[in-house]
Amino acid sequence: MYKLARRFLFALDPEYAHDLALNSLGLAAKLGILKPPLSSQQLTPRTVMGLSFPNPVGLAAGLDKNAAHIPGLAALGFGFLEVGTVTPRPQSGNPKPRLFRLPEAEALINRMGFNNQGVDALLSNIRSCKHQGILGINIGKNFDTPIERAAEDYLSAFKRVQGLASYVTVNISSPNTQNLRKLQGASELKALLGALASLRDECGRSQGRHTPIAVKIAPDLSEAELDDIADILLSEKMDAVIATNTTLSRDEVKGLAHSQETGGLSGRPVRARALAVIQALHKRLGGKLPIIGVGGISDADSAKAALDAGASLIQIYTGLIYRGPTLIDEICRALD
Ligand SMILES: Cc1cc2nc3c(=O)[nH]c(=O)nc-3n(C[C@H](O)[C@H](O)[C@H](O)COP(=O)(O)O)c2cc1C
Repeated sequence: MYKLARRFLFALDPEYAHDLALNSLGLAAKLGILKPPLSSQQLTPRTVMGLSFPNPVGLAAGLDKNAAHIPGLAALGFGFLEVGTVTPRPQSGNPKPRLFRLPEAEALINRMGFNNQGVDALLSNIRSCKHQGILGINIGKNFDTPIERAAEDYLSAFKRVQGLASYVTVNISSPNTQNLRKLQGASELKALLGALASLRDECGRSQGRHTPIAVKIAPDLSEAELDDIADILLSEKMDAVIATNTTLSRDEVKGLAHSQETGGLSGRPVRARALAVIQALHKRLGGKLPIIGVGGISDADSAKAALDAGASLIQIYTGLIYRGPTLIDEICRALD
């Protein structure tokens, strides 16, 4: 069934197809046509970051940037959803076209640039859908906030979203916002995460509820950089790490149409690198901090490989575009 839908969707402009698919999903959920697969509800729940996840398969950030499609996505059987990246103020992102398919490699290249309607719109969407499941909110900085003042954006976004988030993801790894990845540098990271941890703990004390923070990192880091990051995540008392975002490398897609487009590459070509990052983090963290694995997961084997490498949970994005929603059922069945 999805093969047919995919043939139709892939004949359309990628970003238009993306919006059409999400809107159709919402309609199907409203009409009661969509039912989460049984397999997604039959697994033993896992406790990660102090939260109980009905299954370990989550939606990665970027597909639902404004939290406008939660009911449709929830009906697919995900164990958790991550919405965003949201920035404090709305912004339109980079000029179109900014999303490209590389079907031979089951990959995408995107340079969306955090196109989103801002925190206010996201919060109002979340309030109106009354979602009961686990919801991560992924935050970033506005493109026109100078990098030296990035912490102000993260702190203001955290403050606004924490009351409605099961956990908050700090995205410092998108390749499409100038200099954003510099925040992964040791001194910048320590300062940013230290400030966020203080705010998290202050909010926790005043509200009697701890909102965990996950930090999302890039796949394009050396082993030494990964070790430094792992140490800082522990010293600044973060709650989880998400590995990984898209890659700037084109080694795996040389010669393919669109491979030279600027942006982050996702899907099958990032799988091996994401797995290596999960392994390196697992070794350094020694089980002291949960890892959420993401990057190129597109079948039961790649999902199992990420979990075996040390991930407690996984997320998917590009695999969903190429394989369709039955991917969630396929993975959950294999984990049963
Ligand atoms: C079109 C597109 C938009 C994305 N937008 C975001 C984003 O806003 N924030 C973020 O943290 N990650 C974003 N990502 C990265 C994904 O969440 C994920 O980390 C990455 O694509 C690797 O997983 P995958 O191979 O399953 O797609 C985006 C990915 C794609 C393909």
